[in-house]
Amino acid sequence: KFISGRVGELCAEMKDKSVLIRGAAQVIRPVSKKMAFLVIRQSMSTVQCVLVVSKDLVSPQMVRFATSLSKESIVDVEGVISVPNEPIKGTTQQVEIQVRKLYCINRAIPNLPINIEDASRSETDFKKAEEKGEQLVRVGQDTRLNYRVLDLRTPANQATFRIQCQVENVFRLFLLSENFVGIHSPKLTPGSSEGGAAVFKLDYKGQPACLAQSPQLYKQMALCGGFDRVFEVGSVFRAEDSYTHRHLCEFVGLDVEMEIKEHYFEVCDIVDRLFVAMFDHLNKNCSKELETINHQYPFQPLKYLRKTLRLTYAEGIQMLKEAGTELEPMADLNTESEKKLGKLVSEKYNTDFYILTRYPLGVRPFYTMPCYDNPAYSNSFDVFIRGEEIISGAQRVHLPELLTKRAEECGIDIKTISTYIDSFRYGAPPHGGFGVGLERVVMLFCGLNNIRKTSLFPRDPQRLVP
Ligand code: 4AD
Repeated sequence: KFISGRVGELCAEMKDKSVLIRGAAQVIRPVSKKMAFLVIRQSMSTVQCVLVVSKDLVSPQMVRFATSLSKESIVDVEGVISVPNEPIKGTTQQVEIQVRKLYCINRAIPNLPINIEDASRSETDFKKAEEKGEQLVRVGQDTRLNYRVLDLRTPANQATFRIQCQVENVFRLFLLSENFVGIHSPKLTPGSSEGGAAVFKLDYKGQPACLAQSPQLYKQMALCGGFDRVFEVGSVFRAEDSYTHRHLCEFVGLDVEMEIKEHYFEVCDIVDRLFVAMFDHLNKNCSKELETINHQYPFQPLKYLRKTLRLTYAEGIQMLKEAGTELEPMADLNTESEKKLGKLVSEKYNTDFYILTRYPLGVRPFYTMPCYDNPAYSNSFDVFIRGEEIISGAQRVHLPELLTKRAEECGIDIKTISTYIDSFRYGAPPHGGFGVGLERVVMLFCGLNNIRKTSLFPRDPQRLVP
């Protein structure tokens, strides 16, 4: 009887048991004609397999066959678990498999464009090797992305996408538990929702159309359609020419829209409880993934408070001013000042996660509700992790006359959004919501330096393949 094994579950308690595992041959190390090692990888885990010639069990031909395999070939290994006296270097599992049978299921081509071991090394590994005078190969980002299916095999990447899946899952489960309904809004749309230029235009059977820049208008229309709380997980398309570490042309939007009773802070309360629950969940249930990422890309754990800090935009500007950065009080924060404010907040309040409220109306989209006490400001907010934006949100204008006026002031052709504005003429509740960038949350929670690391096959202004 075999334990049909997941490599990550192999442990010393299984000593002397027979196992059957399938994985990729990451390392193939001949020792002599009578002995060889294979390191087999399955997702984030690796195990050392030992072939030693012995009468009736392992033939010299089998050792030769093992050493003739190409790296990354998919193999089935049958063998018996043993526990060596010395710690095993370079594998995640501290047991070995004494191989009895070995089958090659699918051979990889020799000389792959990326060596997974090289692609999995940390900067510390490179520095240590350099000190010893050894030459290690650094795999550049473009090479990684050109051969993404190989790059994805590194343990840090395996861990990253497991974290991403958990973020999405907590988002759904939390909102379902709060009586939100999941929706799917159209991605083929007649016009822009967030601003004219940054859309991918297309021909919709002879009509001009574009890919949705966000579910914004439709999630609000869902509220007009009688749903009091909705959420959506879906692709979002932005044609913006931003070649930065945090902009993609296609990303996954996590969107929320809800009725509000008294104040847009009810929306901030959802952000607060949702993200505290999410961070708690990741820290509690994904420690292996976080350790794996940390091993290749070291980062400090995220500091966050049980009740998320809220500052007003004016307070933020004041903090920056006191620290020597003078900003135009009604202009938007640029990336540099956001980062600086993030640092100041982290030092003063001991949190890397906070909400900045009450932005100047002039820097927010037309659908944003002005503050009742001072219409130069708005009932809006952004949310930051480590000084970078992951969310923007607001109360929306649900009054059709004001909405028309605001759209006109922002230079929007009313004809293009008339069905949206009309939706508010049939009786629409006060409401608000927010949009989260999934890739940004994962990037910033894990302290990664580039959003391309958190997108499976990233799309940026220069990349449409693979
Ligand atoms: O700030 P944005 O553009 O806001 C909206 O789309 C609104 N409709 C949201 C709302 O409900 N008020 O986008 C929301 C979030 C940003 O905070 C950011 O995390 C992410 O989406 N995002 C991007 N992520 C990757 N690449 C890009 N080009 C992004 N643009 C925005």
